[in-house]
Amino acid sequence: MDFTLTEEHKLVRDAARDFAITELLPGVIERDNKQTFPQELVKKMGQLGFMGIMVDPKYGGSGMDAISYVLIMEELSKIDASASVIVSVNNSLVCYGLETFGNEDQKQKYLTKLATGEFVGAFCLSEPEAGSDATSQRTTAEEKGDHYLINGTKNWITSGGRADVYLVIAQTDKHKGSHGINAFILEKGMPGFDIGPKEDKLGIRGSDTHTLQFNDVKVPKENRIGEDGAGFRFAMKTLSGGRIGIAAQALGIAAGAYELALKYSKERKAFGTEICNHQAIAFKIADMYVDIEAARHLVMKAAWDKDQGNNYDVSSAMAKLFASKVAMEHTVEAVQIHGGNGFVKEYHVERLMRDAKITQIYEGTSEIQKIVISRNLIKE
Ligand code: CAA
Repeated sequence: MDFTLTEEHKLVRDAARDFAITELLPGVIERDNKQTFPQELVKKMGQLGFMGIMVDPKYGGSGMDAISYVLIMEELSKIDASASVIVSVNNSLVCYGLETFGNEDQKQKYLTKLATGEFVGAFCLSEPEAGSDATSQRTTAEEKGDHYLINGTKNWITSGGRADVYLVIAQTDKHKGSHGINAFILEKGMPGFDIGPKEDKLGIRGSDTHTLQFNDVKVPKENRIGEDGAGFRFAMKTLSGGRIGIAAQALGIAAGAYELALKYSKERKAFGTEICNHQAIAFKIADMYVDIEAARHLVMKAAWDKDQGNNYDVSSAMAKLFASKVAMEHTVEAVQIHGGNGFVKEYHVERLMRDAKITQIYEGTSEIQKIVISRNLIKE
């Protein structure tokens, strides 16, 4: 078993690290304060190939593997988890969904623009009454010959106000349960498609989260993804890969907080010595490092499974469950190590602590990850 990164992986990781430090870091506190979407930075990430990391170059992507994806996600998330969630949703929900389940016309029309960052994508599954319980979709898509009429509401949609392309999951036949669900490609500006107010959030405040409203939105039949009734499987498979991205985001948040806490503990003096020399702090540093390394192994294993063509439903759920727990627990510890300074924005750790919480909620709560893991274990 070889745990070393290839030279290519190291180059990609270093490019993401450089970008995060030189481009994301300078404005990150202001974007968090003002809830500003990083429009120009998203364009730059597109130019670097970060918006279509795993997409085939023939569709404008970077053609990299999932290991590269998690390395990039970790580095961006150490500095700016708002920017990294835009990257994650675009890559592993929207681009992956279209590349894997879309037809050639859909790929030419949409994927080529999403993979280069010309377009930003959003994934629309959650509803006021269907967050975790994804089969209970209330958004309907009624077949009308050559088109569908879509009606309903979607909640907590990442990049909801800024996206150009929206993958929308809707129910076409409620009697068929999960087999009566379809996924559709919607474009911003379609008549009847309204974007609700922006959510005022605890964390990832630089990302753009909205409620979306569909009132008789006419969507051509050619915008349905896959066979009739394939939408739930599409959503589940896509989310499995998405969870690898969010696990890497959680890992990055934890690792970013750890790096700041370690540095601070070697500079800050109390009781006549640097605080890292006090066991109370040194033990926290050791615990953080061990948990972050364990999370990194789970994240890498899930990405490796994807690259090998193995089933990654369980490994992605495990990685997300564990990495998000580590992110939450250890960002709190990083604030504690910083003492009063940890409560102040310029030290960054309070933002990382606020950003960590969402990794236990979106793309399936921690409880949903346990359902996915346990169901797979029981059926084996
Ligand atoms: N791959 C393929 N098929 C799958 C699958 C998978 N990973 N998981 C389930 N299915 C299939 C099942 O085999 C089953 O098919 P059959 O009927 O043919 O047997 C069908 O889908 C229904 O499966 P379940 O009976 O297991 O469905 P369920 O209602 O019990 O739900 C669940 C399962 C795991 C709880 C699921 O609802 C779930 O994952 N919920 C969480 C949803 C979620 O993650 N939401 C996040 C929103 S997106 C987001 O946050 C994006 C963002 O903006 C950041």
